[in-house]
Amino acid sequence: MIGKVGLAPMAGVTNWSFRTLSFEFGAEFAYTEMISAESIIRKLSVNEKYFPRKEEKEKVAIQIFGSDPFVMAQSAYLVEKRGAWIDINAGCPVKKVIKKGAGSALLKDLKKLKKVIEEVKKNVKTKVSVKVRLGFEKDEFEKIYDTVVEAGADMIAVHGRTAKQMYTGKAKWNIKNKGYIPFYINGDIFSFDDIKAAMEISGANGVLIARGAIGNPWIFSGKKPKICEKKDTILHHIDLLYFEVRNKAPCEFRKFVSGYTKNLPMARQFRAKVMKIEDVEELKLAFKEFFLSFST
Ligand SMILES: Cc1cc2nc3c(=O)[nH]c(=O)nc-3n(C[C@H](O)[C@H](O)[C@H](O)COP(=O)(O)O)c2cc1C
Repeated sequence: MIGKVGLAPMAGVTNWSFRTLSFEFGAEFAYTEMISAESIIRKLSVNEKYFPRKEEKEKVAIQIFGSDPFVMAQSAYLVEKRGAWIDINAGCPVKKVIKKGAGSALLKDLKKLKKVIEEVKKNVKTKVSVKVRLGFEKDEFEKIYDTVVEAGADMIAVHGRTAKQMYTGKAKWNIKNKGYIPFYINGDIFSFDDIKAAMEISGANGVLIARGAIGNPWIFSGKKPKICEKKDTILHHIDLLYFEVRNKAPCEFRKFVSGYTKNLPMARQFRAKVMKIEDVEELKLAFKEFFLSFST
């Protein structure tokens, strides 16, 4: 909706600090982690941490998940002013989510998906996008696309796999953009060249990047970092995370260690050590020492 290259939603990953870092490296938009529509309606205070902060609000969509069209609509109404637009999760394949008829389970019942989108659209002034997979069991993207367009959504993003595939096989990029609404392609985009290829093959208006950005925000700039830049970025990321979650930062940062140290010598031993650190200063010192060995 606003630009070509965005950071895809990732529960437990795309928090404020990671979004901030991604924006610094050139991501043009991002999503919150998925937020339960039910819990928004119940006004649970645990949700507060998910919502975009003031300075990023214009670039971050709020992703909601649920199955009841009216609950989805009401929750969208309650939070629409807190982000750039509302995104409906119709792609999550996780058991806990589909058991409740939410996420990719909506792809099994396109009438329901349509109703969800229509009700959300009726209740909000802001734009509404939908994130889908190719289908639940088999590729039915054409039908899904038509449903999403007919329901009045303003944008669609597709992860080129079925829900059943989870993360197996290769994501399909060869999905023709029919062009009725902005169309974003997602799945297995791990480099700047992949961004170009996925867009060329699909004719999409842009891409969403998820795993390819974990420990690799340079995917957004297309510039290969020098080793000292890598170190500075890691330390900066830890500082941002500490600002956001305080003492939980070392534990939260573990998700990124493997990405940041990929292909570096002695990375395996270093990771084993770093995964046990619980103090933020100790964590930063460990990275400083690790990177020192590359500059001598
Ligand atoms: C850890 C993790 C959490 C995710 N959480 C969400 C989520 O909250 N909402 C969503 O729509 N997709 C979620 N996804 C799916 C991604 O947005 C994306 O569609 C998928 O990973 C494929 O893109 P990729 O190959 O770039 O990783 C998640 C993926 C990962 C790896």
